[in-house]
Amino acid sequence: MLNWDATQHALGVAEMDATHREFTALVNLLAESDDTDFAALFEKLLEHCRLHFTSEGRLMRISRFPALNEHEGEHHRIYGDLVQMNRAVQRGRLMLPRAFVKEGLETWFSQHLSSMDAALAAHLKRVGTAPVELTGGLPVLM
Ligand SMILES: [Fe+2]
Ligand SMILES: [Fe+2]
Repeated sequence: MLNWDATQHALGVAEMDATHREFTALVNLLAESDDTDFAALFEKLLEHCRLHFTSEGRLMRISRFPALNEHEGEHHRIYGDLVQMNRAVQRGRLMLPRAFVKEGLETWFSQHLSSMDAALAAHLKRVGTAPVELTGGLPVLM
């Protein structure tokens, strides 16, 4: 289970936190779904990741994030894996994609979140080009 835990997962940038919350919810739905729902949910995950990575790409560009290429390279790699898995899913071959959802995606998410996404969030807070959530306060546009 990939339960959303704000103390562990929140990065303090509202847009990124909302996206990551949606990601964990979708991964959980997939992990618990039966074979009938799995294919439609996997398509949803693919679409979520496309928007997730596009949105982070936009944040990286507007803030001139120095590790843009490295971070986007990682997005492209995992997205490529998901596209391949989706081909298998849509042909009814669920074994590998199911294992990938349960093990691969959880590990990928925690590693990516604590390294590249955390670095991006820290950069955004430093340069102030994103709506930043201050602890105990209302979200403010810096
Ligand atoms: Fe992310
Ligand atoms: Fe990312």
